[in-house]
Amino acid sequence: MGLALAEEYCAGDYEVVATVRTPSPALEQLHERFPSSLQIKSADTTDPDSIACLKDEFQESEFDTLFVNAGICIARDNTPIDVAESDFVALMLTNALSPMRVVETFRDRVSPRGVIAVMSSEIGSIQMNKGKWEMYSASKAALNMLIKCFAARHEGDTRALLLVAAGWVRTEMGGEEATLSIEESIPNVVKSVEAQAGKAGLRFIDRRGKTVPW
Ligand SMILES: NC(=O)c1ccc[n+]([C@@H]2O[C@H](COP(=O)([O-])OP(=O)(O)OC[C@H]3O[C@@H](n4cnc5c(N)ncnc54)[C@H](OP(=O)(O)O)[C@@H]3O)[C@@H](O)[C@H]2O)c1
Repeated sequence: MGLALAEEYCAGDYEVVATVRTPSPALEQLHERFPSSLQIKSADTTDPDSIACLKDEFQESEFDTLFVNAGICIARDNTPIDVAESDFVALMLTNALSPMRVVETFRDRVSPRGVIAVMSSEIGSIQMNKGKWEMYSASKAALNMLIKCFAARHEGDTRALLLVAAGWVRTEMGGEEATLSIEESIPNVVKSVEAQAGKAGLRFIDRRGKTVPW
């Protein structure tokens, strides 16, 4: 979905900085299509030094949108009794703590009327999840709590702060049985995120901009 986000923003005439932790031939191809509007940088969201270096590269820049998309889904079928602790820690580190560290690091690089968006999930909603992928869902619920506390610490911030639920999408993570294609999700996600610019405060929204219950 990160690749599709980059493509959608490039097609919308944005100047885009897309990050990868491992080289992506598909992103390189996108760069060939949009050589002047797409920059590719390297960053691992779980490595605070790599995020700090990335920030240093953009000392003079102000972003309209910061979209933190990276995430993992492992131990899908495990429960608290049998999950490997290392898997649980990796989920929490990658899906909850690290996205928020990126947000904390880049917050002051986002324009005052800009948008900070983080990819959450419908199944990170306590109300909506009826028991699916519990280890992964717990990490997204933890992300939701961390961003809520971040918003409370920055009360009065003029930026829009968004948790985004893109739907169940056919990606490597979502799998073939997912209900939506990337094309059915991501263009709508981008429209919904764009529509939030200039609207201060924290919201949990789906791909159509509708409120998702916490
Ligand atoms: N697909 C769905 O149905 C669905 C639904 C709701 C929410 N989401 C969320 O949407 C986001 C994107 O999911 P997806 O379906 O596109 O998953 P995906 O196909 O597995 O892609 C995940 C991407 O995140 C990158 N990534 C993982 N850990 C990283 C790290 N530490 N630093 C930098 N990059 C990292 C991966 O890089 P590598 O290629 O190097 O591994 C990969 O490019 C995730 O946050 C996911 O939880 C997905």
